[in-house]
Amino acid sequence: MTPVVVAVDGPAGAGKSTVSRRLAEALGYRYIDTGAMYRVIGVLAVERGIAFSDSMQLASLCDATRIDFVERPNGLRTCADGRDLSEAIRTVDAAQLASKVSAVPEVRERLVAQQRAMAAAGGVVMEGRDIGTVVCPDAAVKIFLDAAVAERARRRAGDVRRQPTAEDVARIEQEIAERDARDRTRAHSPLRPATDAVIVDTTDKTIDEVVDLLRALVARRTAALASHT
Ligand code: DC
Repeated sequence: MTPVVVAVDGPAGAGKSTVSRRLAEALGYRYIDTGAMYRVIGVLAVERGIAFSDSMQLASLCDATRIDFVERPNGLRTCADGRDLSEAIRTVDAAQLASKVSAVPEVRERLVAQQRAMAAAGGVVMEGRDIGTVVCPDAAVKIFLDAAVAERARRRAGDVRRQPTAEDVARIEQEIAERDARDRTRAHSPLRPATDAVIVDTTDKTIDEVVDLLRALVARRTAALASHT
């Protein structure tokens, strides 16, 4: 079967990362986390004192930074010019920085070009907010994962702490709602499902159920493509 591009979009906490990683593993595809790329630029911009209003400096930062996903014994790492930023980009602050920097058109243009190059040969599961709409509009499979905001907050709180308190969940729900609103209403490439995306509500589904469903979708699509050639 020809390796295809699988685009996975959706809001924070919908299950994109876990599901995309598992799906890529099952298919023998590369997993590409585009949110990590925006997080890297957000974190480096702050580190270098670049204001988010300075689009030219942000564009130069994107041009000058090589972002790689590297398989290491301790898992898939996100590196910027060889420096491992995997932990630094996973904080709540880094998420907000990424959301802000991702609204800057000059940043999006550059990172989208890099993402297209990564997807060019196919055989990738690429997750983000605009993969099916902007980065890979011709992706063979487009999935939009969604879930109720309260459930998304509960999951994210569980990532941060084994036994999250009600306050943890409430705080994270507010953080997610704020970030979603910014991601959905920005002028440039807002978060929305592609018209030909399959929308999967993961609120009441286990990870295994979602992965099985997506595997079946990919199998059906690749078989249909093969029968046309
Ligand atoms: O998926 P994530 O939480 O790591 O993404 C961090 C932020 O980056 C998110 O709030 C929106 C932005 N983002 C984007 O605008 N486009 C993408 N393709 C991926 C992420």
